[in-house]
Amino acid sequence: MSISENIFPDFDSILGRKDKQSLLKQKSKVIWMTGLSGSGKTTLAIALEKKLAEAGMLTQILDGDNIRTGINNNLGFSDEDRAENIRRIAEVSKLFLNCGIVTINCFVSPTKSIRQIAREIIGDEDFIEVYINASLAACEERDVKGLYKKARKGEIKDFTGIDAPFEAPENPDLVVKTDEHNIDQSVQLILEYLSPILSPVE
Ligand code: ADX
Repeated sequence: MSISENIFPDFDSILGRKDKQSLLKQKSKVIWMTGLSGSGKTTLAIALEKKLAEAGMLTQILDGDNIRTGINNNLGFSDEDRAENIRRIAEVSKLFLNCGIVTINCFVSPTKSIRQIAREIIGDEDFIEVYINASLAACEERDVKGLYKKARKGEIKDFTGIDAPFEAPENPDLVVKTDEHNIDQSVQLILEYLSPILSPVE
């Protein structure tokens, strides 16, 4: 017997995404930021959220460090746990998406296969992949959380960029080089990209 045999999902009787987008006068999307720890994902997400809020948009930031203290507090950093982390986040993002809300996701999401899981759950149309690109050297130099130092000393295992892989996206919708652009410039780039996509619903 499959686990879902006695489950009867009914998504259609619930007020639909279109209705909720109209209610909020906005389009919902998932902005999926991927990049090394320390590349600037969270910083940019916060700045971006502020700008979108000023434009009257309702958003929700989903961030690895926060999510891992709550819904995903039973997951570590093995390949398997990272995949489960991303799967759950993608499912949560889909709930927000269907609620008309723009989510801004900040997850290392280090491999193509992991990001593919997210893309498949969320749907190609609504998944906007933004590669927050800073060199490992720059992230390590910043080392805001002191984690690279620990990883180099062997105190953290499987740390992305050190002893666990990061596969850069091959075809991201947008690349933001935080080595080269400051926060304001980076957010501006993202806003310029998003503006036609998020332009108000009729
Ligand atoms: S993911 O790989 O599963 O997408 P996620 O974005 O949720 O990772 O969490 C990454 C954050 O967890 C990093 O920014 C860092 O603060 C912390 N962290 C702790 N251990 C590791 C590790 N081994 N690899 C990467 N990040 C780690």
